[in-house]
Amino acid sequence: MAASMPASPLRPLLLLLLAALACHAADTSWSGSPFRHGRGRGLGVNYGRVADDIPTPRRSVQLLRAAGAGSVKIYDANPAVLRALAGTGMAVSIMVPNQVIPDLAASYAAADRWVAANLLPYLPRTRVKFLLVGNEVLSDGSIAASTWPRIVPAMENLHRSLRARRVSRVKLGTTLAMDALVAGAFPRPPSAAAFRPDIAESVLRPLLRFLEGTNSYYFVDAYTYFVWAGSNGTVPLDYALLQPATRARYVDPGTGLTYTNLLDEMLDAVGAAMSKLGHGGVRIAVAETGWPNGGDYDQIGANVRNAAVYNRNLAARMARNPGTPARPGARMPVFVFSLYNENLKPGPGTERHWGLYYPNGTAVYRVDLTGRRPLWAYPPLPAPENDTPYKGQIWCVLAAHAGRKLNETAVGDALTYACGQGNGTCDAVQPGGECFQPNTGAAHASYAFNSYWQQFRKTGATCYFNNLAEQTIKDPSHGSCKFRSSLG
Ligand SMILES: *[C@@H]1O[C@H](CO)[C@@H](O)[C@H](O)[C@H]1NC(C)=O
Ligand SMILES: *[C@@H]1O[C@H](CO)[C@@H](O)[C@H](O)[C@H]1NC(C)=O
Ligand SMILES: *[C@@H]1O[C@H](CO)[C@@H](O)[C@H](O)[C@H]1NC(C)=O
Ligand SMILES: *[C@@H]1O[C@H](CO)[C@@H](O)[C@H](O)[C@H]1NC(C)=O
Repeated sequence: MAASMPASPLRPLLLLLLAALACHAADTSWSGSPFRHGRGRGLGVNYGRVADDIPTPRRSVQLLRAAGAGSVKIYDANPAVLRALAGTGMAVSIMVPNQVIPDLAASYAAADRWVAANLLPYLPRTRVKFLLVGNEVLSDGSIAASTWPRIVPAMENLHRSLRARRVSRVKLGTTLAMDALVAGAFPRPPSAAAFRPDIAESVLRPLLRFLEGTNSYYFVDAYTYFVWAGSNGTVPLDYALLQPATRARYVDPGTGLTYTNLLDEMLDAVGAAMSKLGHGGVRIAVAETGWPNGGDYDQIGANVRNAAVYNRNLAARMARNPGTPARPGARMPVFVFSLYNENLKPGPGTERHWGLYYPNGTAVYRVDLTGRRPLWAYPPLPAPENDTPYKGQIWCVLAAHAGRKLNETAVGDALTYACGQGNGTCDAVQPGGECFQPNTGAAHASYAFNSYWQQFRKTGATCYFNNLAEQTIKDPSHGSCKFRSSLG
């Protein structure tokens, strides 16, 4: 498109208008745009693959490029993915799975073997930049004894192996969620933040010493979405969405610093906690951030409009390298979560809706991760339909997609599980019960899923059942068969 345009002073404006009007214009049309501020490379993207319907690694690399991604982060060291990234020039972050950490900590030979098998074969054609040792390890209490104290020893063994093998460009890190801090994601004021006492001395102090000694980064997963969604309206949406025009401000009484967005508060809280352990100089990287483009009826603010606004604002902001109020100008690697909506992620609906792309490779919304495209130059977005809590009734039933291609075994297993929980959960679908008819696996599953979920949602149960269930606001009751409901 750009090549056929006559060179004239109007050209930049025309390009903008054309691209804004052509809603199917490839985002790559912006790579030749006149907006050249910033570092010229886009945000990183987390390429999660907990799905059974997403494109191949090769196609995924094309989609990463189309969105303007400057780097990519994966949750393992998958050979097909690493091969697809060879020769692309894209910086890659790979990961040691949590289960492997104790072995790599216990034995230098094991760490060296891991490097030889999972990293060396792909260098230098695949530009691996970070080797992350575990994913949110400190959020998983079930591996506190086995793995938490082993993170740093595993990093040390891997580091020694990298040096012995003269691999100097790969830095080591580990990703931590905001729950490494006392009070979690939102400890106000940020300057008062501290690491949890159960990990501060035993894990964080040696970790920070290691990161400082190797000039690496503290990798944090920081989601303003969850803080906002849990704030019951006390955090303004625009402040969580990084809207440049927001009037919301927060002044930290400890430092006098003024905040204009929630992400900065969260990152400075991490920095303050590091300072308290004497390592305030360690750089911060944002390993995951983003906003869900969809979710369940009882989840607020998860929609395409907010997801697009957040990620566009993030890209535009990070292209200027603003740092944070406590660390002005600090350069931060930032990775958006995530490339695809991943259909096999358990938990509430938002978990399966973080993607820049649907599984069929269609963009959920336009975003230029280089941040060069001005915000006004995007096509209009759908109105946000769920920015306030849903107040109506909700039920949980067999998902439409699961009903279309019914896997009798999977539905049978889920039914057995649901009926085994709670009190009289499946009485109504027994012979003679009000919901026995129609006597089909699908109908009984819907009844059982709902009956289970209504009993246990208050204690955190989700309407998921291995991707077999979904929420509905249409009453599935029929005849004398009544489905219990609950208010959103
Ligand atoms: C949420 O905010 C509303 C209105 O400000 C208030 O009435 C309600 O008690 C709050 N709920 C919780 C759980 O804090
Ligand atoms: C891809 O999937 C999305 C979501 O299901 C759908 O809206 C869109 O039409 C699909 N695109 C194509 C080209 O099939
Ligand atoms: C059906 O579900 C079972 C149990 O979850 C699974 O092992 C099997 O692969 C599924 N079959 C198909 C065709 O998807
Ligand atoms: C089931 O009934 C027992 C006895 O009435 C009660 O203690 C228990 O809390 C009930 N469980 C659920 C999930 O309702």
